[in-house]
Amino acid sequence: MNRCGHVARRLDGYGPAHLRVVEPGVRGNDDIAAVASAVSAKDLRRVFKGTLIAAGGFTADSAHRMIEAADADLVALGRLFISNPDLPERLRAGAPLNRYDRSTFYGGDARGYTDYLFHSAAPVM
Ligand SMILES: Cc1cc2nc3c(=O)[nH]c(=O)nc-3n(C[C@H](O)[C@H](O)[C@H](O)COP(=O)(O)O)c2cc1C
Repeated sequence: MNRCGHVARRLDGYGPAHLRVVEPGVRGNDDIAAVASAVSAKDLRRVFKGTLIAAGGFTADSAHRMIEAADADLVALGRLFISNPDLPERLRAGAPLNRYDRSTFYGGDARGYTDYLFHSAAPVM
């Protein structure tokens, strides 16, 4: 295993509350071409025994698959949470998700953070 694996193994010895890993394919808030050699949560699972959280480009389905395969203990959703203030309820109900607007990320004001509609408030088309 590469340097990330070495660090994760050493970290494990200190018993941190959790380790969160952003999967290859996401850098910052951008989707990028995944590098084949990049380390994913699945790789680190073998050396890190504490609570492992995977993040990066997950959907409800891929998150479930990750947990079922025991490749991580938890999956974090970032951008979808920004654009869906009621994300858990939407996922439970299988409701459609609001798309996020990248141009408002790190925008410096409330636009794009507090103005996404709840599903119950969405206009019926
Ligand atoms: C606006 C914005 C701010 C973020 N800020 C942080 C941060 O401060 N620290 C961090 O570790 N990750 C940060 N992230 C990355 C997210 O935690 C997450 O790893 C990333 O968005 C990939 O997950 P996603 O595909 O579910 O969005 C941020 C992402 C966005 C879109």
